[in-house]
Amino acid sequence: MSERVSVLVTGGAGFIGSNFIHYILDRYPQYIIINLDKLTYAGNLNNLKDVSGNSNYYFVKGDISNYELVNYIFEVFQPRYVVNFAAESHVDRSIEDPGIFLRTNILGTQVLLDVAKKHWYRANNWRNGVKFIQISTDEVYGSLGPEGFFTEKTPLDPHSPYSASKASADFIVKSYFDTFKMPINITRCSNNYGPYQFPEKLIPLMINNALNHKELPVYGDGKQVRDWLYVEDHCRAIDLVMQKGKLGEVYNIGGHNEKENIYIVKKIIELLRKMTGDVKINESLIKHVKDRPGHDRRYAIDPSKIEKELHWKPEVNFDRGIVKTVSWYLNNIAWVRNVTNGEYRNYYKRMYEWR
Ligand code: NAD
Ligand code: TYD
Repeated sequence: MSERVSVLVTGGAGFIGSNFIHYILDRYPQYIIINLDKLTYAGNLNNLKDVSGNSNYYFVKGDISNYELVNYIFEVFQPRYVVNFAAESHVDRSIEDPGIFLRTNILGTQVLLDVAKKHWYRANNWRNGVKFIQISTDEVYGSLGPEGFFTEKTPLDPHSPYSASKASADFIVKSYFDTFKMPINITRCSNNYGPYQFPEKLIPLMINNALNHKELPVYGDGKQVRDWLYVEDHCRAIDLVMQKGKLGEVYNIGGHNEKENIYIVKKIIELLRKMTGDVKINESLIKHVKDRPGHDRRYAIDPSKIEKELHWKPEVNFDRGIVKTVSWYLNNIAWVRNVTNGEYRNYYKRMYEWR
């Protein structure tokens, strides 16, 4: 009989975490998943409705900063892996209110590390096979000009409160490796897209606004570049890092899919008009609005390390991924209504004074 393996997934009710839980439960019948999630505005149990009855899946509502709760989870489930997705994840919100970003992304990570260390480190030895995987972001590297790519050796130079909090967490995770030899990996991925992404981020926000014939707010000239990674490709990469990543290492994960924001918005309009036949969905909805303060111009990842060492490569190219994503949102309008509390909400107008 194969060995039972417990994985503590934090932030599993969010976008990438819920895709990761689906991915793992599909592939590994011997794995037990414990999903610890605070259910902030971004966390939604509807993302996991289809696995809620799975006897290998447990949900715990709570905060990663709650030492006693995390300790209790370790006592009961003795996880072999911790995969830390839990975070405040939206740059725009971090400009409005940095405090919660520091509390969750930095202090929460430290609590997870401390509890893991308490349970995994006995008599000067780390328990066999355990590992802490920190899900980080390419945004810790800062911004690129038109040339070049982020490698794992690029110095960290975060610009937003969000990316600064993620960079801080990365340094703390690294310090547990350097100081205590704690088995860790850090992954730094580019912008993800796909099902279950909260409609405040570029792609789902534009889809939701266009379907409601609302303005499509493009920050500044719209020529900022992001490197888009289909979420399932990302989940496969995290799984490989979890199983085979060399201890203490950082792995960059990117999609080889650099696109300007304005290209993405026009592509969404084109696809939605084709799929719905709605002629009101057209480029006149695009509105160039005031730029985000401190807006990073270009992100681009060099993923050659994970490609060489772990034989990973992205499989979903942008043309296919964006069709899958737009179709998913069209088929799941009820999900969008649910996460936005039943009605269309113009998040961008409601929230940010800088616009
Ligand atoms: P998300 O905002 O969709 O989900 C975050 C989840 O964490 C939510 O379910 C939320 O309820 C939960 N959470 C927040 N604070 C918590 C706390 N204190 N305790 C427990 N749970 C808490 O985020 P996402 O897009 O799925 O991102 C997941 C991770 O990947 C984050 O760490 C993010 O920094 C990183 N990342 C995301 C992207 C992207 O494109 N989405 C890119 C690079 C890195
Ligand atoms: P976002 O999805 O917030 O991700 P990140 O800031 O982490 O890269 O934004 C992606 C890009 O799209 C970024 O350059 C900002 C831009 N953007 C807009 O132009 N309009 C919007 O309404 C949003 C949410 C983002």
